[in-house]
Order: sequence, then C-alpha cells, then structure tokens
Amino acid sequence: MTRTIRLHVNDRPYEGTVEPRTSLADFLRDGLDLTGTHVGCEHGVCGACTVLLDGEPVRSCLLLAIQVDGARLTTVEGLADGERLHPIQQAFWDHHGLQCGFCTPGILLTAKALLEDNPHPTDEQIREAISGNLCRCTGYHFIVQAIRAAAAAG
Ligand code: FES
Ligand code: FES
Repeated sequence: MTRTIRLHVNDRPYEGTVEPRTSLADFLRDGLDLTGTHVGCEHGVCGACTVLLDGEPVRSCLLLAIQVDGARLTTVEGLADGERLHPIQQAFWDHHGLQCGFCTPGILLTAKALLEDNPHPTDEQIREAISGNLCRCTGYHFIVQAIRAAAAAG
C-alpha cells in the first residue's frame, strides 16, 4: 500500500507516492532526484545523509518519508543561489574543506544549522557540531578552518 505525501524541499513544493517503509533518503534521491543527499552507512552513524528538517539537522536514512509529510526540508541543492555558492560552500572551496566530497553535503548542512544557532562558534564548538559527520579523507582540519572562515565572513 502506498501513500501520497506533500512537502517543501528547498522552498519548492513536492508531492510523491511512497511505500510506508521508504526512507527519507531514498525518497529524496530516487523519488525527487535530489542525489546530493548521500547515503553511506544507512544506520545513522556516518552523517552523509544529513538534511535540515525545519532547520534542524537530521539523518534522512533513519526517517521514513511518510514521517515528514507536510514538513520543510533543506538539502544541499538548496544552498547555492543559482550559480552563486552559499557562503559556507564558498568557504569550503576557498579553504580546501573537502577531498572526495562524499561527506560534504551533510557537513555543509550541519555547519549551516550551527552558524544559524551560533554565528561565532569556537573551534571546539565546530568540532562538537560536526562530530556526527564522518570524513575519511580530510582529517577535519580544513573543514573546521572553512567553517571558521564562513563564520568570520558572516
Ligand atoms: S547514511 Fe545516514 S547516517 Fe550514514
Ligand atoms: S572529503 Fe572524503 S569523506 Fe570527507
């Protein structure tokens, strides 16, 4: 049995039909073709699938699509303004905050939520905020530097 859900993603209305067991991550990727949301562990560990649900970071692999019926979501596709990168994306570009990029969408959205909550975090607060987002490439140093730069840019 399927169910129709309606939600706003990146300020655009969407409607889709899902099975009750469809995860939000799969719905975003396969149903809406928003493949910037990455899927790694599918167990809530790696943070690659992080999206913002009403402004708060959530693991989209742990949510069912039917649970977000009527919600407002932000995915990485919603950060840039046309060709212009979001300031956090620009800071990652400028400060080499990524290598393979697999973790990057989730970290960008986690950083966005952090800076909206705390516009001038300490390095310790940045590290704490991204502690649920695993990166196997960078060693985190440049990620922290990029988020610090984005905060400084205001
Ligand atoms: S894929 Fe969701 S936390 Fe790893
Ligand atoms: S840049 Fe490769 S996992 Fe983070």
